[in-house]
Amino acid sequence: PAVTFVQASGERRTVQGLDGESVMQVARRHGLPGIVADCGGELSCATCHVMVDEQWLEAVPVRSPDEEEMLECTAEMPTACSRLACQVRLTPALEGLVVHVPRSQK
Ligand code: FES
Repeated sequence: PAVTFVQASGERRTVQGLDGESVMQVARRHGLPGIVADCGGELSCATCHVMVDEQWLEAVPVRSPDEEEMLECTAEMPTACSRLACQVRLTPALEGLVVHVPRSQK
């Protein structure tokens, strides 16, 4: 599935993801800026914070309690659209997903 990353500057990049890959892995594989992912997807760093575009909010599976807890540690204040990108797995249903990258992850 294709995923579009929108940077805080407004710059958009659409890259191709694989089924089962996390949004964080897609971003890292394509060298996109702004997704630090210090822990490599272990749900222990909160530096893979993204905001799912509002139009996609219902299509994305809900947060786990562990993810909720870790979202309290993000550099930028989380919103109702906030997710840790390592916890969002791509499926065909998410073809065209749009996520916003926060200004800072540190
Ligand atoms: Fe560390 Fe997602 S990569 S919490």
